[in-house]
This record gives sequence, C-alpha cells and structure tokens, in this order.
Amino acid sequence: MLTAYEIIRKKRDGGSLSPGEIELVVREYTSGKIPEYQISSFFMSVFFRGMSDEETLSLTQSMMQTGIVVDLSDIPGCKADKHSTGGVGDKISLMLGPLAAACGARVPMISGRGLGHTGGTVDKLESIHGFRTRLSIEEYKRILREVGIVMSAQSDDLVPADRKMYALRDVTATVESIPLITASIMSKKLAEGIDSLVLDVKVGNGAFMKSLDEARELANKMVRVGRSYGKKVTAYLTDMNQPLGREIGNWNEVVESVKVLRGESDAGDLVHLSTVLTAEMISLCSGEALSTAEAMVRKAIESGAGYEKFLDMVRAQNGDVAAIKNPSQYRSAKVSLDVKSNESGFVTSMDTFKIGMASVKLGAGRLKLHDKIDPTAGISLLKKIGDNVSAGEEIAIIHASDRDRAADAAKDILSSYNLGTDRPSAPQLVRERIAS
Ligand code: URA
Repeated sequence: MLTAYEIIRKKRDGGSLSPGEIELVVREYTSGKIPEYQISSFFMSVFFRGMSDEETLSLTQSMMQTGIVVDLSDIPGCKADKHSTGGVGDKISLMLGPLAAACGARVPMISGRGLGHTGGTVDKLESIHGFRTRLSIEEYKRILREVGIVMSAQSDDLVPADRKMYALRDVTATVESIPLITASIMSKKLAEGIDSLVLDVKVGNGAFMKSLDEARELANKMVRVGRSYGKKVTAYLTDMNQPLGREIGNWNEVVESVKVLRGESDAGDLVHLSTVLTAEMISLCSGEALSTAEAMVRKAIESGAGYEKFLDMVRAQNGDVAAIKNPSQYRSAKVSLDVKSNESGFVTSMDTFKIGMASVKLGAGRLKLHDKIDPTAGISLLKKIGDNVSAGEEIAIIHASDRDRAADAAKDILSSYNLGTDRPSAPQLVRERIAS
C-alpha cells in the first residue's frame, strides 16, 4: 500500500487513485494520523487534477464510512432533503425545511457551516439563542419523528471526515473542486438516511461554479452518485449573480426567512426559489405533479403551517422561540452604517463574491479555522440588479461590531455595485432542472 506522501504525489502527477488509496487518506486524516499540511496538499492536487466518477464515488463512500449511516426505516413517511452548493444570502433551507415538513415530508437535514465567502445553515441557526445543532443520533431521530424536521450539524458520529475536511478546505482555497464538493455534499446526504434529494447548484459570480457548464458538470456528478445509491435525486441550476434576498449574515438571514414563512416578505426571489425547490421535494416523495406541489407550498405559507413547523423545530432544538416571534427586540449589531451611492443609474451587475467576502470580514463567516462568528454582523441590501439608484441614495446598510470594520465593508460594498444608464433585465433565477 502506498503512503500518504506517495498518494499525494500520484494525484499531483495526474494519476488515478484506487478505492483503497482514497480510503486510506480519508480514514487516516479523520483519525489524526495524517497531518493537516499533507491533507491540504492532497486537496490542492485534487483541485488541479480532478477525479473520475469512480474516484469520486470512492471518496464519497470512504467519507461516509468514517461515521454511521443513519437508519430511518423505523420512521414512517418519505425522508427528503435539499442541499445547496453554497451562495451569498442563501437561506433557502430555513424556509424549505419547515415548508416541506408542513406538507407531509420528513426532513432530516444535516447542514454545513459557512464555507469560503458563502454562508452556512448551521451558523445561521446558531444565531438563535440556545439552538442546538450538535445532536446525538437518538435526539436526531426523536426530533424527526416528533416534529417532522430536524436540522443538525455534522456530529462526531455523522461523516466526521467531512466536518474536518470542510473546515480545512475553507481556509486553504480548495473549496471550488467538483469532486471535493460532490463527495462532501453526497457523503452527508447519503449518511442522513434519506429517500430523495433536491440539489441546488448555484451558478454565477457568487457561486463556487462560475459557468453554466461547470455547474451542470457538478450537478450531473452529484446526481450520478445519488442514483448509484438508489436515491431519487433532482438537481436545479440556479442563479448566484447577486445575493439571494436582501439580507446577508446570520441572525438577519433568520429574520428574513421568518418573514417569508409568515407571508410578510417582499423578497420575490426567496419566495419563488423556496417554493420551487420545496415543491420538487414533495413531488419526488409523493409523485404529485409539480404544479400541485407548488400549490401545497403556497398554502403552507398562507396558512402559517410552515411558520408553526419552524417554531416547533426551534423549540425541539432548545432555541429561543420568543426571539423568533419578536425578532426586532432580540439582538442587533452595535454599529449600523449606511452605504450611499456616489452616482445615479440602474444596478446592472453586482460582485457577489466580494459582497460575500465583505460579510465574512465583518465576522459573519470565518477567515481562519477557529474564528468565532459574530451572529449580528452582516449586510442589508437595499438595491439589487435592475433597481434605480440616485446619487446620494442608500444602497445598503452594514451591521458590524465596530466602526472601522463597518467602514471597510462599506468601501467593498460600494465597489461591488455596477451602475449603467439602461435598465438590465432581471437575471433568470432558475436556469435548469436536471431530473433523475
Ligand atoms: N457545500 C458542502 O456541503 N460542501 C462543499 O464542499 C461545498 C458546499
């Protein structure tokens, strides 16, 4: 058997790794036998050399095997989930999970933390005081059985390999790799014990996949891995050339999601994408036509059933329900700074990556492995693509812990907006659907 050093060298030189070699790297890194500097180098080799479908499947399988695969067969109903490849302002899971559960699906969701310039569902949920994301398998199953939805972080039991690898990739510039993303997402999703999965593959200047071709390749690779495990998988390619909704951060994204669930949101993109992806989950589970499933989702918003499900989940996971009911009285950042435009015109494009990084630098994400998240840090966008702006008008509000950080972020945000004289057409949010 090759050593870790030889395996890294083999991949660096464009070789194809055997299942045993991949398994060795994953197992020994997870158990602490391979140091972080070697696995970082392995990731960089994979980043540049890629992996075949067979290697990617082995990587997924090896990562999954570092933990337990949850058996949910004793819980009745169809177990369905969704996973996004990551975006800026992407809070869809917070709405979709409760809505799908309100429509009858069981949603066992294991989510990630912020990665690179993108936010993570676990960081958002942890901005709710008391909310527990680290659950034992018994708690995970009990909450799923009783509430119909559970949202958890990867625990030591569930794909421990991904928990370690994800955090390291985040700080070694090795996130944007199709095989690494595929194995990271699919190992978690397959370990959850699901029957069906909807994948939201983001594409654009705020996504890990910049072009439609790359996004399609990632989507197809994930769908193939899912199918080889006998799961029903559908992928969507959706736009990430501007942040989703108006809020970027953690607590402010929770508040924005709650507004959608209460039917109080004017963020059309959030409502639309949550509806489309939730309907797909329901349709995969029940066989209902997509149009029927969409009507069910709209009803779950109008009746408040999705919002009630969210409250039930927060309560079951020890979160402060009063904070969700009265968010404005709960917490806010120390400093709030308006960003004003220097010029007039229509917003023609936005540098979504830069906006995501501005939010990370404010403390809403991590620049180093052990950085602590500031739950109140973030950005509210008052203008998006197609909106008209006058010189001197506010385009965004920065939420920060101090004035210096806020001022730096304000400069980044200002330079992230491009204005022109002609109103551009709105970007198409749902670009493609890849059905299994
Ligand atoms: N989301 C994940 O869970 N893993 C990745 O590698 C990227 C996005």
